[in-house]
Amino acid sequence: MFCSPISVGEGQVLPALTGKVAIVTGGASGLGLEIGRTFVAEGAVVVSTDINADAGAAAAESCGAEFLSHDVAVEEDWVAVFAQVMARHGCVDILVNNAGIGEGLGAATPDETRWEDWQRVLNVNAGGVFLGCKHALVNMRGNGGAIVNMSSVAALVATPFLTAYGASKAAVLQLTRSIAVYAAKENIRCNSVHPGQIETPMLQGLFRDVAHSNRVSETDVRTEFLQRIPQGVFGTGADIAAAVVFLASDAAKHITGAQLSVDGGMSAHP
Ligand SMILES: NC(=O)c1ccc[n+]([C@@H]2O[C@H](COP(=O)([O-])OP(=O)(O)OC[C@H]3O[C@@H](n4cnc5c(N)ncnc54)[C@H](O)[C@@H]3O)[C@@H](O)[C@H]2O)c1
Repeated sequence: MFCSPISVGEGQVLPALTGKVAIVTGGASGLGLEIGRTFVAEGAVVVSTDINADAGAAAAESCGAEFLSHDVAVEEDWVAVFAQVMARHGCVDILVNNAGIGEGLGAATPDETRWEDWQRVLNVNAGGVFLGCKHALVNMRGNGGAIVNMSSVAALVATPFLTAYGASKAAVLQLTRSIAVYAAKENIRCNSVHPGQIETPMLQGLFRDVAHSNRVSETDVRTEFLQRIPQGVFGTGADIAAAVVFLASDAAKHITGAQLSVDGGMSAHP
C-alpha cells in the first residue's frame, strides 16, 4: 500500500508518480491506455476502468494495471470503483477523468444535432466527469490528491460541426475551475488537459464520419485536418500522457484550476 511519502536516499531521483494510487477512466483504448501505461512506468499503482470490460481487462494486463468495469455516467459505478480501490490500496491520490465519446455517425451541426445525441454526449462527457470529481472529493479528503480532467481544444474554439461535443468539453473546463477553487484548501488539485488532434480510434472515427458526410476520401479529410494544426503534425498519446503525468505529479503542486493545451498550436491560431 502506498499513499505515504517514500523515503529517498540523497541524490536519488524517483519516477514522477512513485507511491501514488491512480484511477484512469477510459483505459481500454487510445489516450487512456497510453496514460495508464505511462503512469505504471512512472511508478504509480494504476486502476484502469472502462465500460468495455473485455478490451479494458486486456489493455490493463498489457500495461501492468488493475482493471474495473465502469460506466462513468452511472453514479453507483463510481461508488463501487472508489470503494474497491480504497479497500485494496487505502487511498486514491490521482483521478484521471479521461473516458469520453464523440458525436457518432453523421454531421453534428446545431441543425443536425438530435436532442438524444446532445443528452448522450453531455451525459458521458460532462456528467461522467462531474460524478468522478464529486466522488474523488469524498475519497481524497484528508489525504489530498490530484484530479486531471480530459477536455479538448473543442472547449477553446468554436465547433459548429461538433455541437454537443464542444459544449460537453467546455463544461469540463468550467467544472474543473469550480472544483479547483472549491477544494483548494483541502490540497485537492484539479486541472484540465486540452488535446488537439491526437491519433487514436476516436480521431480515426471522426475522419470516417466527416468523409462519409461530405462524400470525400478519408485521406482528403486527414490532409484538411492537418492543415489546421500550426505544427503540421498530429499529436500522439505519449504527448498527452506526458502532460497528464506532470499535472498529476507533485511537480505541479502549485497548479490548480489550469488548462493545459497539447494541440500543436491549434487553440492559439486565430
Ligand atoms: N483523440 C483525440 O484527438 C482527442 C482530442 C481531444 C480530446 N480527446 C478526449 O480524450 C479522451 C480519450 O479519447 P480517445 O481519443 O482515447 O478515445 P477512444 O475512443 O480511443 O477511447 C475512449 C475510451 O472511453 C471508453 N468509454 C466510452 N464511454 C464510456 C463510459 N460511459 N464509461 C466508461 N468508459 C467509457 C471507451 O470504451 C474507450 O475505451 C476523451 O475524453 C476524448 O474526448 C481526444
